[in-house]
Amino acid sequence: MKKIAVFTSGGDSPGMNACVRAVVRSAIFHGLDIYGIRRGYNGMIKGDIFKMESSTVSNIIQRGGTILKSARSKDFVTKEGRQQAYEQLQKHGIEGLVAIGGDGTFTGANIFYEEFGIPTIGAPGTIDNDLYGTDFTIGYDTAVNTAIYAIDKIRDTADSHERVFFVEVMGRDSGYIAIPCAVGGGAEIVMIPETKTTIDKVVDALRTGWSRSKTSFIVIVAEGDEEGSAVEIAAKVQAAIPQMDARVTILGHVQRGGAPTAADRMLASQLGIACVEGLVNGRACEMAGIVSGEVVYTPFKETITKVKALNPNYARMIDILSV
Ligand code: F6P
Repeated sequence: MKKIAVFTSGGDSPGMNACVRAVVRSAIFHGLDIYGIRRGYNGMIKGDIFKMESSTVSNIIQRGGTILKSARSKDFVTKEGRQQAYEQLQKHGIEGLVAIGGDGTFTGANIFYEEFGIPTIGAPGTIDNDLYGTDFTIGYDTAVNTAIYAIDKIRDTADSHERVFFVEVMGRDSGYIAIPCAVGGGAEIVMIPETKTTIDKVVDALRTGWSRSKTSFIVIVAEGDEEGSAVEIAAKVQAAIPQMDARVTILGHVQRGGAPTAADRMLASQLGIACVEGLVNGRACEMAGIVSGEVVYTPFKETITKVKALNPNYARMIDILSV
């Protein structure tokens, strides 16, 4: 293998740039030509491909977002789109890919390999941390710290006005972001897709808190909770407790930006190197991850289908810590 390319795909996450840097530098270290593909699979289809040098990735380790841009490609889902992408890679003589993204990205890479034989090694780039095959995903630590920083500020105003704040954090399918936000942010209640927390339970928890002279509350809601969004949940609780003074804050995409933490820079660098070395060693269709401190490669088929179960004790922690 002489020429490889790197791209970022799906929702961006802090640390993607640090990972791109590590891929570029380790490719050069191993004597490979390295190309960048802009805008994920869309750029692959359009041939938005350029040669990268060590200097191309100078001064990006600390930057949030991705210098390669990102997209969720509808065209790559079609055979025609993948055919065009293959032709563009052929034009540049690219024999292997490093994909920094999540399960949608790896699903595409798997099909692409089956059809055209181009091997891809993936790095888990998503703030959600819900990918099987790695203890942590790139950007998760930063996203959680960003959210905690915001929640601390919300606590101040919640305390001053003796209000209940419903704070919505990201996590379409999982409570990986919500749980450390609730524990580290000192929340009274957490609502996540993995466990059922009824509106009655929220109402009871608030009433119990008031009876114990608590005057302000933080309720952390993962956006994928089965009771609905933070706005919907707040409305349901308000209907049960009309005298409640409540506010809703949706942290949203603020969690996806900003300078990566030291932990994310380290993880991104480690996995960027692991991706290139995986390709050099003939691996294909696997995600590089860190499990118990060691680099492991997990087949895309497993990362896509298996669920990284959230430790059930985490939700219990909130009950204990909020008495
Ligand atoms: O997958 C990462 C993520 O940030 C999810 O937590 C969130 O549900 C989604 O992306 C938002 O995606 P978009 O950028 O399309 O709004």
